[in-house]
Amino acid sequence: SNRAAVFTMGALHEGHAALMKAARGAVGATGEVVVSIFVNPTQFNDPKDFAKYPQNLDADLAICEAAGVDLVFAPTVDEMYRGEIPEYSAHALGGILEGEHRPGHFDAVATVVARLLELTKPAHTFFGEKDYQQLVVIRRLVAELRLPVVVHPVKTVRAESGLALSSRNQRLSPQGFNVAASLGKALAVTCELLQAGDSIENAKAAGLKILQSEDIKLDYFEVCDVDLNVATESTKVFRVLLAAIVEGVRLIDNMEAVRN
Ligand code: PAF
Repeated sequence: SNRAAVFTMGALHEGHAALMKAARGAVGATGEVVVSIFVNPTQFNDPKDFAKYPQNLDADLAICEAAGVDLVFAPTVDEMYRGEIPEYSAHALGGILEGEHRPGHFDAVATVVARLLELTKPAHTFFGEKDYQQLVVIRRLVAELRLPVVVHPVKTVRAESGLALSSRNQRLSPQGFNVAASLGKALAVTCELLQAGDSIENAKAAGLKILQSEDIKLDYFEVCDVDLNVATESTKVFRVLLAAIVEGVRLIDNMEAVRN
């Protein structure tokens, strides 16, 4: 097929628009861009997070239309999970970093994405680097199932403050928005030091220092390699990842550093 698919949970923002743009770029004007909007209940390990997840289908449809999307797939929970659905696993990736704090989350993501790929049958699919671990999980899934789809990563879109765009940012006050900007700053500092050849220990300490605030509860801050193994001093391409809670909103972000 000459179809590209972007899977979302709605509450669309510039980050999603970048995925749609990349999708259009891959298939051209004659290809078909499909966007799914489905707030998948099974991947929310915290029912309160699910209940508070922003939903606004009319606004989302307007964004899709403006982005020139050909088809929007917005099923109900019943439509998605009717009948026997094969369940997939994120394997060991489901138990580290995000997975350690959100048990079952990545298995549920793998299962719903496999279902979405089966239903939409795209040749190309696009995932934001903002959810870096999810991207790694999906790549593994596609390889494991030998699915005929190319998984394309798309760069994280950031606010001017450096805060990574996220649907959950809507739940922050203007004050919280400022506090949350230090997440992107901490990652940038750690990545700069890693690139400059500083030790992992020093680079990490400099990032952590920026996050020392009463208003930030850090879940983790880890320096990994591209496959999310713990990095060593001989790692060439690093991924620094964090999760933190600001004003009761759990935010994640990550950045790449390349050492020559
Ligand atoms: O990244 C998301 O929005 C979701 O995890 C996804 C990929 C749409 C699966 O529900």
